[in-house]
Amino acid sequence: MRVIQPIVYYFSETGNTETVARAIASALGADLVGPLTGRERADADLAFIGTPTHGFRPARPVRDFIERNDWSGVSVGLFCTYALHPGGTLRWMRRRIEDRGGRVLGELAVKGEHSALPLLARGRPNERDLRRARRFALNVLRRFERGERD
Ligand SMILES: Cc1cc2nc3c(=O)[nH]c(=O)nc-3n(C[C@H](O)[C@H](O)[C@H](O)COP(=O)(O)O)c2cc1C
Repeated sequence: MRVIQPIVYYFSETGNTETVARAIASALGADLVGPLTGRERADADLAFIGTPTHGFRPARPVRDFIERNDWSGVSVGLFCTYALHPGGTLRWMRRRIEDRGGRVLGELAVKGEHSALPLLARGRPNERDLRRARRFALNVLRRFERGERD
């Protein structure tokens, strides 16, 4: 059997998305790449991509990273953090990945305290959020392995 080394790509300005990215990476023994600048080359069979929500979309470096790579043959788990509402963040990522040949196996949105408005989502992500993130990671891995066998 082929050994799969998932990679978790993320951008984070104030640490929330990085906290979730680290939980996902440690649940899977995955490599962690970030904070992204947008110029990285994606190189994984199973990739997780995480972003904060900025203006109801992914942050700029994540948009660039997704648009500048070819996702054909890549299985992807998407996650974002948001203070109020993620809006079209996950949808934006899913569309671009699928347009570029990738297969999205799961999506997760997690609350993250807003640096300028800490009353929004105070203390998030918390332990419960990180448990959800680990479960999400394992579910995506399971779907990936099932797909490989089919
Ligand atoms: C410039 C900026 C724009 C943001 N726009 C949104 C938004 O549209 N919707 C939302 O729910 N949260 C928004 N937020 C809150 C962040 O998405 C949230 O706090 C996130 O967890 C920050 O992630 P980070 O710590 O990884 O940078 C915004 C934050 C910043 C700094």
